[in-house]
Amino acid sequence: MDGPSGSGKSSASRGVARALGLRYLDTGAMYRAITWWMLQRGVDLSDQAAIASRAGEPALDSGTDPDAPTIHVDGVDAAGPIRSQEVTAAVSLVAAVPEVRARLVALQREIIGSGDIVVEGRDIGTVVAPGATLKVYLTASAEARATRRTAELNGTTVEAQQAAMARRDTLDSTRKTDPLSMADGAVELDTTALNLEEVIAEVLRLIKERA
Ligand code: DC
Repeated sequence: MDGPSGSGKSSASRGVARALGLRYLDTGAMYRAITWWMLQRGVDLSDQAAIASRAGEPALDSGTDPDAPTIHVDGVDAAGPIRSQEVTAAVSLVAAVPEVRARLVALQREIIGSGDIVVEGRDIGTVVAPGATLKVYLTASAEARATRRTAELNGTTVEAQQAAMARRDTLDSTRKTDPLSMADGAVELDTTALNLEEVIAEVLRLIKERA
């Protein structure tokens, strides 16, 4: 499941995994975790070569239980810190570096293996798992996406969120390596007017249709 931030990917993919008893992988959490590690180490994030040279260092471990997804970096629980504003503002810079993407895509493919799993991200249908049984591209209006994110966070406004998300979306969809884009054969699902249950039901229906 791919799409921009606030499109409802996380809640929908977790809900689908739960409904089907499948594993779940949040690849955005992996990009956030490596970003958090780089920030802690004082890596200059305006320097792509510096990011590239350290991309292989942190040990990343992703738990795939949709009821309790986990992420550890060098054995440290990073679930809280990866959601900080500092990481959110910096992650697109790290995610744009080809060496980071190559490492995380390899890790993601290892986790996916040959077993059934729901995976969410930006390049899952295009790069990580182009042979997936079902590829869904979630969208929603900029206002709906900003409103959802604002409800999840403290101390921000819809306007501020909309501006921050527009900046991140531009970086994520214009980067040279594996930009956010809809995969061949993906089903586009606009969630602007749908609630979570409706999105999950539609994805389950699509899976049934394909299976
Ligand atoms: O889904 P998220 O907001 O947690 O993702 C964080 C960032 O990671 C997002 O700005 C883009 C990047 N990302 C990516 O480049 N490729 C992925 N498969 C997942 C996330």
